[in-house]
Amino acid sequence: MADLPEHVRRNRAYWDAVAGDWVESGRRAWAQDEITWGIWDLPESELRLLPDVDGRDVIELGCGTAYVSGWLARRGARVVGIDNSPRQLETARALQRQFGVEFPLLLGNAEDVPLPDASFDLAISEYGAAIWADPTRWIPEAARLLRPGGELVFLGNGALMMLCVAEYENDPIGDRLLRSYRGMHRFEWPDIEGVEFHLGYGDMIRLLRSSGFEVLDMVELWPRTGAESPVAYVSADWARRWPSEEVWKARRLAG
Ligand SMILES: C[S@@+](CC[C@H](N)C(=O)[O-])C[C@H]1O[C@@H](n2cnc3c(N)ncnc32)[C@H](O)[C@@H]1O
Repeated sequence: MADLPEHVRRNRAYWDAVAGDWVESGRRAWAQDEITWGIWDLPESELRLLPDVDGRDVIELGCGTAYVSGWLARRGARVVGIDNSPRQLETARALQRQFGVEFPLLLGNAEDVPLPDASFDLAISEYGAAIWADPTRWIPEAARLLRPGGELVFLGNGALMMLCVAEYENDPIGDRLLRSYRGMHRFEWPDIEGVEFHLGYGDMIRLLRSSGFEVLDMVELWPRTGAESPVAYVSADWARRWPSEEVWKARRLAG
């Protein structure tokens, strides 16, 4: 623990403390047959962001309650989940037992994964390492773990939204930029103990390319007509005009 970077130690304490709040939403997601993306519940059958995972090696970086891993394991993937929070992994193990889907779950930092180079075909993160680990560390680590041709797919908050969200999570979002885009990286909030990371678009593209990836896509997720926001920090009206969530998709180049 003492040798972990400061933000990883803080995020472990934060996620251990809030893990109990995520058990029921994790259970509901595990119970779902369909793969869906993000707070707007957009079906993978429409977005088609994932490669065929049947018989493929997949790692979920910051798996939390591991429902994404569960969805992929049921589709024939050989999945490994890694997460920094022992309490989140306890939930994941309980849900594995409840739903009868078992795969290895590792306690660890997605920025420094104790697994060999080139052992996976897909690295995925849904609000895991994608926003809670330092991208300058976890993205090169994902590149190391992937085989040439393997894909990295990750979902997080929209960069633009991170500049507009209120200082306190329960306050409404506005249509004004509250913070600088230039150099955006580490985010801390007065009412949340954890540390988040969000990059601007150019910085993300350069980081992916310098880590050995070819950028395939960046898909903004838009709420459907009539959808209501399930979270306090962004409204559906806002998210219809500006991207509240983004999925990045990149392919590991050879060499
Ligand atoms: C929003 S939750 C996970 C999302 C997952 N899809 C779910 O909803 O259960 C974020 C997770 O990232 C994990 N996490 C944070 N920093 C991490 C790190 N450096 N390495 C691995 N996992 C990390 C947290 O412990 C937490 O379980």
